[in-house]
Amino acid sequence: MGKNGMAQQAAPLTVLVLHGPNLNMLGKREPEIYGKETLENINSALMEKGRELALHVETFQSNHEGAIVDRIQAAFGKINGLIINPGAYTHTSVAIRDALLLLDMPIVEIHLSNIYKRESFRHHSFIAGVATGQISGFGAHGYILALEAVARLLHSVSNQ
Ligand code: DQA
Repeated sequence: MGKNGMAQQAAPLTVLVLHGPNLNMLGKREPEIYGKETLENINSALMEKGRELALHVETFQSNHEGAIVDRIQAAFGKINGLIINPGAYTHTSVAIRDALLLLDMPIVEIHLSNIYKRESFRHHSFIAGVATGQISGFGAHGYILALEAVARLLHSVSNQ
């Protein structure tokens, strides 16, 4: 209850979903590897799932490493969980890894393809060591699995 005896509305838990380079081309880009779903479809499925899970979902895509770092910094203090498909930056970006270290919250790294089944340069992730967990190889459904994982972690903490 608030001071005036009214039930207080808790601020909605917010999850930011970040999509890295070339993921704006999903549906057209190597569909045999990444599937036929567009990023727009994935984002709207995430919003819908978010409503079901009582989470506010925000999405952001960029082809630029610095823009992704800027978005992570802007989210500092404003979000409760993060899902990231860093695309090719998974395998190269110390800057994105360092930015993620700002965030003390559930972080899920997600890949549409199973990166461990592919070329050896995709087997190393700079992000995995700073993420809560990783989902790789389940296509677009992986994003829903990631949101469910974040929801479980956030709701179990807020219900304690
Ligand atoms: C990817 C895997 C990366 O190796 C690749 O560079 C991508 C997409 C995936 O979702 O499977 O851009 O992150």
